[in-house]
Amino acid sequence: MSILIMGTGYVGITTAIMFAELGIPSTGFDSNAGKIAMLNQGHLPIYEPGMEPILAKHLASGTLRFVQDEEEAIREHQTVFLCVGTPSNSDGSANLHAIKQASEWIGKYMQAETLVVIKSTVPVGVNEKVSEWISRKQTSPIPFDVVMNPEFLREGSALEDALAPDRIVVGSDNMEAAWRLLSLYAAIECPKIITTPKAAVMIKYASNAFLATKISFVNELSGLCDRLGIDIEEVSHGMGLDPRIGTKFLRAGIGYGGSCFPKDVDALLHTAAASRQRLTIIENAAKVNRIQPLQALDKWELKMPSTFSGKTVAVLGIAFKPITDDLREAPSLVILSELLAKQAKIRVHDPLAVLPAHFRSLGIMQYDSIEEALQGADAVILCTEWPEYRQADWQAMKPLLNGNFVFDGRNALDKQSLTTLGYEYYGISRH
Ligand code: UDX
Repeated sequence: MSILIMGTGYVGITTAIMFAELGIPSTGFDSNAGKIAMLNQGHLPIYEPGMEPILAKHLASGTLRFVQDEEEAIREHQTVFLCVGTPSNSDGSANLHAIKQASEWIGKYMQAETLVVIKSTVPVGVNEKVSEWISRKQTSPIPFDVVMNPEFLREGSALEDALAPDRIVVGSDNMEAAWRLLSLYAAIECPKIITTPKAAVMIKYASNAFLATKISFVNELSGLCDRLGIDIEEVSHGMGLDPRIGTKFLRAGIGYGGSCFPKDVDALLHTAAASRQRLTIIENAAKVNRIQPLQALDKWELKMPSTFSGKTVAVLGIAFKPITDDLREAPSLVILSELLAKQAKIRVHDPLAVLPAHFRSLGIMQYDSIEEALQGADAVILCTEWPEYRQADWQAMKPLLNGNFVFDGRNALDKQSLTTLGYEYYGISRH
């Protein structure tokens, strides 16, 4: 029997394609007509390498389709995944508008007993609200279950992560509903946890907050290491070899960005504040992340003969991480704003991400090639560790530059070889 996925953002599209890959017919719904048309033509509204041919394959076989009519979609399905967005409100809380809308539609149009699965990242207790929103719109008492099923995929490897997850977490007070959901994942081999709805939500928030904290830990430590002349890369490597610590998410840089870490950390802090519970470590992980790009820029400026004012700066990489065009909460945006405030002339390159119009209107130019971006630059700042920058011919590019400063915000370039070529290289606590 076909399942319905409501919301065609990263999580929704990936979930729909994942189930199609597992042989389960899936219908993706979105109220955005443009997105639905694009998807039905086999094009992804997100950048996800390797996913488009798989989408096309399942569209052609009929295992996957995308629709825009909520009434028909809900009438036809008894398993509905909520994958709509939960962006941050200005106070850090999660905006539940789309979740409420989808729940009300389910209540209004459901025809038979339905399993409602919440995959969107929502605060503790939202499953109860969803039940309420559904019930309120029902005209006859058709039974339904609401089950939590948080998603842990990363952009850039979304489908691989969905098909081979580290774990599948199901939060439900009804074991039968939990098992019904788990049966959809029968072909995936990994630990599968059934817990309470509240614990399932907390597992998701805690995982993201922990990873964010790990990054902020190493970023904060990099400040001390820098003062003491210690290379943070060696410290991360040495620490990470202890399997209790692990090497992953210990890379120092200008901070974490993306659609999840900053938003989920804020939402968790908001939940804590509402429960009158301080989360000091997590509060400070967020604080370190806010300071990190500014601190890096200040340190680099001190290495130059004068300030960034009037200098031409080439910024390499603006996406929040490589292999995505996503700029959400990217630390590069903080660097660009700060460089503007310092009256630098900025030339940008990114293999995929497009500079927001607001920055273009302020005089920042984006170029198609690294060489063009570097033309006449007094300094280069690397914000995103695209492989292109590591593989670039830094020897051939040197004459294009006016200065020789390379500031590496991701410790991605080879310090030794750049120094040998005559560049003045500074990373994040590289010694
Ligand atoms: C993250 C989680 O990894 C994923 O499990 C969750 O479902 C969604 O959020 P994603 O946002 O796609 O995934 O990116 P991720 O690869 O985790 O990187 C997040 C940010 O952390 C990036 O800005 C990256 O540059 C930064 N980062 C990561 C570091 O600064 N150092 C590291 O060592 C690792």
